[in-house]
Amino acid sequence: MRTRRTLMAVTAGLAASTLLLTACSSGDDNPSSDGSGAAGGDASEVEVFTWWASGSEKLGLDALVKVFGEQHPDTEFINGAVAGGAGSAAKDLLQTRLQANDPPDTFQAHAGAELQDYIDAGQLEDVSALYKEFGLTDAFPKDLVDRLTVDGKIYSVPSNIHRANVMWASPAVLEGAGLDPAAKYDTLDDWFVALDKVKASGKTALSVATTWTQVNLLETVLIADLGADGYSGLWDGSTDWNGSDVTKALTDFEKLMSYTNTDRDGLDWPDATQQIIDGQAGFNVMGDWAEAAFEEAGKKAPADYTYQPVPGTDGIFDFLADSFTLPVGAKHPGGTKAWLETISSAEGQTAFNKAKGSIPARNDAKPEDFSEYQQTAIASFGKDTIVSSLAHGAAAPVATLNAISDATSKFTTGASDLAQYQKDLAAAAAGK
Ligand code: BGC
Repeated sequence: MRTRRTLMAVTAGLAASTLLLTACSSGDDNPSSDGSGAAGGDASEVEVFTWWASGSEKLGLDALVKVFGEQHPDTEFINGAVAGGAGSAAKDLLQTRLQANDPPDTFQAHAGAELQDYIDAGQLEDVSALYKEFGLTDAFPKDLVDRLTVDGKIYSVPSNIHRANVMWASPAVLEGAGLDPAAKYDTLDDWFVALDKVKASGKTALSVATTWTQVNLLETVLIADLGADGYSGLWDGSTDWNGSDVTKALTDFEKLMSYTNTDRDGLDWPDATQQIIDGQAGFNVMGDWAEAAFEEAGKKAPADYTYQPVPGTDGIFDFLADSFTLPVGAKHPGGTKAWLETISSAEGQTAFNKAKGSIPARNDAKPEDFSEYQQTAIASFGKDTIVSSLAHGAAAPVATLNAISDATSKFTTGASDLAQYQKDLAAAAAGK
């Protein structure tokens, strides 16, 4: 019988693992493939499907492509990126292509429940032989490999680990509102006081963008109000979506949304981050790909921007990992193999993650190679309680996330009230 692993199960226990990145000698970072397709297939090119289409995300992809070109000069990289943060447009298009038996040679997918969808649909090949060939079983922490294993098979190779529960702030805006930019906010209630002050100063208190960024905000509020266990219980059925603690979290979410920019639905995440960079908004909640956007803009923490866990979530790491696949029917499996080798190599993971704001999945990366923010993420990942991100495919299947996103959009555009929102979320989580 096929075991269904939820994103939560995939990540449970990671905190206790040896995922702490330590400076130690590199494992297998000396790729052997020359693009000749030892996997038994065409290695002349590789179409790589991602949503890293522009800005800092494109710079991350470019860094990876540079290493790929050095390691596999005979394999042509074809950029299949589709714009739209969090895969908001890419995932639908990908589904259309998979169903038409026209898969890209490899595609970006989130480890966890989202990946399980593709596995259950029979759309992915087992790549566990490549783990042996490239030495990945040792290069990645054992707990991670165990949790990526479904019935003895592994269907993707992770390129990075992102944190979704980060609150970013503009020191200039906070000072202008009479706030100490170095202040830490332990609870949502502490944060509301500061948000009121920024609002009174005439700036946007909290910048946000289109629906998926609102869902990203929602998940962090659920974590803050329910705690790690209560939040994780939303995905295994042990927390009641109709409970009063969820009502409290949704009330807090509604309040947070009242501080946000009204043009939000026409924006994507880089626009909301830009409002912090430009000193138009005080706070923003976003995954740590935002770190790459601050760096791209030449900004330095803590002078130009600050970061801390979303209030109420300190000690919890809201996890997601991008990973790459070998789709059934890929036209250039040798090219896919070459790509998977580069993204999993020490050199590929270091170059990519430095540019992307994330941290490497490999356990031989050197923390000192990374930014100050990333070093805090590396430390947190090693000691925090790990929970799975909803907005980024770790916690729930794509259909559930889509239904939660629809319910959230209905609520934040005023088409439903809080009681209806809670009912809609409960129905979405129950698959009704
Ligand atoms: C991906 C990140 C990406 C972010 C914004 C997330 O779902 O995992 O790699 O930067 O979306 O597009």
